[in-house]
Amino acid sequence: MIQINSRAVFRRMIAFNASNDLAGDVRLPSPEYTSLQLPGDAQQYALVIWDQERLCIDLEILADQLPHRIDTLAAGMLADALEPTLWACQDLEERHVFPTILQLDASLGPTVARLRAEHVEDEDHAALVSETIMHFIRNPQAADADRLGYLIRGLFLPLKRHSAFDRNVMLPLYLRAQATL
Ligand SMILES: [Fe+2]
Repeated sequence: MIQINSRAVFRRMIAFNASNDLAGDVRLPSPEYTSLQLPGDAQQYALVIWDQERLCIDLEILADQLPHRIDTLAAGMLADALEPTLWACQDLEERHVFPTILQLDASLGPTVARLRAEHVEDEDHAALVSETIMHFIRNPQAADADRLGYLIRGLFLPLKRHSAFDRNVMLPLYLRAQATL
């Protein structure tokens, strides 16, 4: 059984915080951070970024506990949450954040194009991971745990970097654009 309990999540949060390599200043949101009164969409943006980061923590726990200690209920819920969680953040960025930031600074076009491309890759990869988790749950004996672990790590490692960039670069830019435009 996977134990996705608060102690395990807390350990993951510490490891996650320590392992992020973006300018060495990545911080998980503290309670103060998540309760900040940011304007409108920015508050929502901070929360959906955190949802993505939490997804990475849960995926890493799942990968670490393969192949024999699967909590099928938790794994199934995680598989179901993958695409909607990614979509919530990506949709907000693509409809509101990117256009606003480009109004502030058009030279950020290549950065936004890279982030859009990463969204497509993550979305495709999440669909595959979700399907493979469900296959594993249905028939763990026949499923390939190594392949599933490989697929899961191939999703959460880039997604961790992407989310850190969203929070440390894009969110402040969005706040500045909202204050300036
Ligand atoms: Fe994003």
